[in-house]
Amino acid sequence: MSNDTIKSAAAHVLPALPYADNALDPVISAQTIGFHYGKHHKGYVENLNKLIAGTEFADLPLEKIVTDTAGKADKAAIFNNAAQTWNHTFYWRSLRPKGGGEPPPLLRQKIEASFGTMDACKKELATAATTQFGSGWAWLVVDGNKLKVVKTGNAEVPLATGMNPLLTIDVWEHAYYLDYQNRRADYVSAVLEKLINWNFAAEHLAK
Ligand SMILES: [Fe+2]
Repeated sequence: MSNDTIKSAAAHVLPALPYADNALDPVISAQTIGFHYGKHHKGYVENLNKLIAGTEFADLPLEKIVTDTAGKADKAAIFNNAAQTWNHTFYWRSLRPKGGGEPPPLLRQKIEASFGTMDACKKELATAATTQFGSGWAWLVVDGNKLKVVKTGNAEVPLATGMNPLLTIDVWEHAYYLDYQNRRADYVSAVLEKLINWNFAAEHLAK
């Protein structure tokens, strides 16, 4: 992530999608990507740039803006747009065409040590994603020596509370409504079975 963070006074940029806009079809359609990436994600980046221009945050890397503004009521607008910028970049990379399947051996070992089985881990992710009330995110994170599943509301992100995210699933309605209407559980289970990018999660584990 840090390589994509603009560390100068230059504006933050919308990172390129790591695949074509129709590459996740039919689980996530090009139409959904068009709105979700092309309008929502882009909008967060643009709002962030407007909000931080000329402030103490103008020259900071994205992750620093997120952690510095988390929990501060008077900085909520900056936090929301910075965190949503970060969360979405992380989400796109948490997915891949022909994803799902089995994680690399080290990650699998860690998952089994923390959850017992792969299925138990996926079940916890699905439960977190479907029970998050309203907008938010389900995450696989490293917390100390253990892997855990957590859910966050709105723009909240575990890195603001000292946990190391490995992957995430966006459960805002804009992530699935065009393709699944109100059937969030169907979106979540299709993502876990067909798109989730265990390799991306494993890369973070090694860091
Ligand atoms: Fe989203």
